[in-house]
Amino acid sequence: SPPGFGCADAKIFRKGSCTLGLSVGVLKETQPGERRVAITPKVLDVLSKSNAEVWIERDAGTESGFADESFSTKGAKIATRAEVLQHAEVLFTVVPPEPETLRKGQVVIGLCDPLGNPQLADRYAKAGVTLFAMELVPRTTRAQSMDVLSSMASIAGYKAVLLAASALSRLFPMMTTAAGTIAPARVLVIGAGVAGLQAIATARRLGAVVSGYDVRSAVKEQIESLGAKFVNIDIGAAGEGQGGYARQLTPEEIQKQRDQMAAVLTEQDVVITTAAVPGRRAPLLVTRDMMKGMQPGTVILDMAAQYGGNCEVTKAGETVMQNGVAVIGPVNLPATVPGHASQMYSRNLVTFLKNMMTKEGALNIDTNDDIVRDTLVARDGEIVNARVKELLGAAKS
Ligand code: NAI
Repeated sequence: SPPGFGCADAKIFRKGSCTLGLSVGVLKETQPGERRVAITPKVLDVLSKSNAEVWIERDAGTESGFADESFSTKGAKIATRAEVLQHAEVLFTVVPPEPETLRKGQVVIGLCDPLGNPQLADRYAKAGVTLFAMELVPRTTRAQSMDVLSSMASIAGYKAVLLAASALSRLFPMMTTAAGTIAPARVLVIGAGVAGLQAIATARRLGAVVSGYDVRSAVKEQIESLGAKFVNIDIGAAGEGQGGYARQLTPEEIQKQRDQMAAVLTEQDVVITTAAVPGRRAPLLVTRDMMKGMQPGTVILDMAAQYGGNCEVTKAGETVMQNGVAVIGPVNLPATVPGHASQMYSRNLVTFLKNMMTKEGALNIDTNDDIVRDTLVARDGEIVNARVKELLGAAKS
């Protein structure tokens, strides 16, 4: 049979019964600070309609507010880690576990950072485990409901504003009181992708005067439709790249951007940076030098902290003080809103899995489907994703 087929047959054989249906396992996340879970009770209904059997490690949902009973009352089996690993054909994870603990032929779906950490994918290939990277879901209309980067970026953009607002020594909204009038905070959001737009909307709801900037001029309208001002910085050319993402800028363009940005920075109370270029270090947008003109008391929240930072002084997971400016470098913001982050993440995952299931509920990994092809990283002992292969080749040579 062609690769990817036969799971259903194997199941009949193993169980000696006629139940078709996949067995899906969910582990308790082990990475420090990872409070999300890859399944929620709501999503279980979708899986049981597809005839799937779900095994969940004890306490997997506790930190995100989903007790074991909320799963077991919906038919999931609460079990030990070893039992889940033993029964699961497909594992739903946030951060994929060490592949050496898994079985050959098992399928793992999760956020494995394939472009930042291709070595993990390589170990998956060596262990013969099939690995899907949710980061690689294509940004197409059909894949929107599986787009984990978008759903998690929305949460992160919202939470970033709350963190910045609580670190600021001033208020966000304008207030007219008997003790005088308070001017609203001025917030600049650099990078108006999914996270940036959510940050703009959140800062606006809190009453700040908001402006936004992006190299992709296409977002001007989106920024303005949220009631923010578009900051016009002329770099001499368009900053759009492929697939709706930003491209890497030339050194001259970067200098132009920095010179103009430095002036804008002096007028802000809060600066939220969200700029990323997929698979590369985050672009450096706020240098130490540019910070010299900023007012003490300003708060920079660098959402790219985990990817090298948009600000030169950023330290991931820390708050750095520089000339009176606080630079906050949070990591894994979605995990700090674990309830809703898990709800959205698990919905993305289930939709993704269902796209690979036959009507009878068997798994069918069909690489003619662009969503399957783009996200599949390791299979049958090999790395099958071209970019990951390239990165691994470069690392070896
Ligand atoms: P991202 O996380 O890769 O980057 C964040 C933002 O930073 C982007 O808007 C990017 O243009 C900007 N940026 C990069 N370098 C910059 C620089 N040097 N200076 C200023 N800004 C810079 O982006 P995200 O949010 O993951 O997606 C970007 C875009 O992709 C979306 O706005 C949308 O147009 C498209 N998209 C399409 C989807 C679909 O059709 N299903 C789903 C999600 C996104």
